[in-house]
Amino acid sequence: MKYTVITGASSGIGYETALAFASKGKNLILTARREEKLKKLKEEIHKINDEVNVEIHLADLSINHEVYDLYESLKEYSIETWINNAGFGNFDSVGDQNLKKIESMLRLNNEALTILSTLYVRDYSDVEGAQLINVSSGGGYTVVADAVTYCATKFFVSAFTEGLAQELQSKGAQLKAKVLAPAATETEFAERSLDVESFSYNESVPQYHTAKEMADFMMDLYDSDQVVGIVDGQSYEFNLRRPIYPYADRSRNSDS
Ligand SMILES: NC(=O)c1ccc[n+]([C@@H]2O[C@H](COP(=O)([O-])OP(=O)(O)OC[C@H]3O[C@@H](n4cnc5c(N)ncnc54)[C@H](OP(=O)(O)O)[C@@H]3O)[C@@H](O)[C@H]2O)c1
Repeated sequence: MKYTVITGASSGIGYETALAFASKGKNLILTARREEKLKKLKEEIHKINDEVNVEIHLADLSINHEVYDLYESLKEYSIETWINNAGFGNFDSVGDQNLKKIESMLRLNNEALTILSTLYVRDYSDVEGAQLINVSSGGGYTVVADAVTYCATKFFVSAFTEGLAQELQSKGAQLKAKVLAPAATETEFAERSLDVESFSYNESVPQYHTAKEMADFMMDLYDSDQVVGIVDGQSYEFNLRRPIYPYADRSRNSDS
């Protein structure tokens, strides 16, 4: 039996992505810190499709050993898709940013994502149909004022995942690596990033997608042969693209 792992499944894009994969009949392993939200999601999934297996694994991915423990706890499963979606942002000038929050953001957005991607690549490179999808941001391609550090974490996610996609392709691996880059999406992201109790996208953001729309884009990326699925920050259209960052393949250069 094959499974799809989704980190950060307790709200927002991860939650809706879980529903979208469930409606395709995919068995799911859902992870986040809030058990109640994941249990509610599991109930909702079973209303759509009670044939689907849903496993809940709690982990705080800003804690290094919990990242390794999560991966180890999933060794018995056959994982056809791994989605590193958990992440959060911060809006502050660099000099004003809260370093405790920033340390946790770097560990979650970059360290956990790199560890989980690496372990998945080690085990699944040669498995036909395997996919690794890492969630970046439009801020992974354009630096946004007052979100410099958050954008830098997402530049890392985009560069790492695009580079990995090219590396896997040049080795003839079966595993595909892909990047989803949402623009503003109505989720708990703004509340967490701005440290506010509530936030109205309707009143404060001129243009945004719903989490369900982003999950539909995630499925378009999953079904495509392209590496990057990115929302255009001006038109808000979703585009599937080849890798965007320049890539120097040293082995190809030395051959020519
Ligand atoms: N919304 C946007 O405008 C937007 C735009 C571009 C990119 N993104 C990216 O999209 C991804 C999903 O975010 P979202 O918008 O859906 O926001 P969200 O509703 O806040 O969801 C974030 C998810 O990450 C989990 N998470 C946070 N800290 C965690 C930790 N320490 N350990 C494990 N899980 C943790 C949360 O679960 P728990 O709190 O239960 O642990 C939650 O399920 C993020 O990578 C974000 O950077 C969002």
